[in-house]
Amino acid sequence: MPLVFIVVTTDNLKNLLIVIFNSEKLKIPVSERRREVYNVCLFVRQSIFFHFFIKHSSEKNHVFLPKIFMAEKINPYKDSDQSKKIQVTKMFDTISKEYDGLNRVISFGIDVKWRKKVVDLVAKNNPENILDIATGTGDLAINLAITNAKEIVGLDISDGMLEVGRQKIKDKNLDNTISMVIGDSEDLPFEDNTFDAITVSFGVRNFENLEKGLAEILRVLKPEGIFVILETSVPTNPIYKFGYKAYSKLILPTIGKLFSKDRVAYKYLSESASVFPYGKALNNILTKIGFTNVKHQPQTMGVATIYSASKA
Ligand SMILES: C[S@@+](CC[C@H](N)C(=O)[O-])C[C@H]1O[C@@H](n2cnc3c(N)ncnc32)[C@H](O)[C@@H]1O
Repeated sequence: MPLVFIVVTTDNLKNLLIVIFNSEKLKIPVSERRREVYNVCLFVRQSIFFHFFIKHSSEKNHVFLPKIFMAEKINPYKDSDQSKKIQVTKMFDTISKEYDGLNRVISFGIDVKWRKKVVDLVAKNNPENILDIATGTGDLAINLAITNAKEIVGLDISDGMLEVGRQKIKDKNLDNTISMVIGDSEDLPFEDNTFDAITVSFGVRNFENLEKGLAEILRVLKPEGIFVILETSVPTNPIYKFGYKAYSKLILPTIGKLFSKDRVAYKYLSESASVFPYGKALNNILTKIGFTNVKHQPQTMGVATIYSASKA
């Protein structure tokens, strides 16, 4: 049975074009048809997007153009006029009490393994003091205590998240080592060259201005200090990528809708992950900011990546 795909696309600014693919005629082996189905689905999506883009840009004298590309900057609440920073703070304040539980469920607990790898990288540098930015409820800051650093500072913009973290730190008797500080990654309340190590786990994609946040991190990192990022990424293998997209676009927002206090939060978290630069793209940004020795290691089929960098 041949696979036939009908794709609606645009051949110029006005006309619609129907393209018919017959996979048998194209001599695609059966084993590759699945991938073709996926690629064609992507093509259909892009075509529909392109069609609406052309339609609106010609109707509204290209006012639509900047809007479409700005849409890459994902905010939690689509109807809100507030800055991304305010929206992100509000969202994390709302979900702070459920964050740890839901996080373990949606990551199947694999994040525990990833965080351990971050700690191992940092520990190799024997840091005396560490800054964990976007620390949230403090999981990474708590894990970092194993490095024997004398001082660990967890910084976050959401007081709700910090409050949950403070309680966890108290329960573990780590309050002499770890302090939780409210602050903005884009305007860090520290002197230049303060920390031996800086970490950010699942935080950088929430920054309103990524480059500003990274430049601040470079400023407060000591020369030869280590900077480690753990962040979601998109698998490059098409089969894993398909599974990842299905999970992040369908299952993750549904879990969020059913179990979260904030119905859109988990939709935002998956949308922001899908457009955030990863792998070499993020390496290039780090290098452009001025970090040296920039490396990345994809984790678990590429669904997350650990980046490490230093300061000359
Ligand atoms: C997905 S949570 C990650 C929390 C924690 N690092 C973890 O691994 O579970 C993202 C955190 O980034 C924080 N955040 C977002 N923008 C920030 C900013 N500009 N400055 C500091 N923290 C920020 C949020 O408040 C939130 O706690």
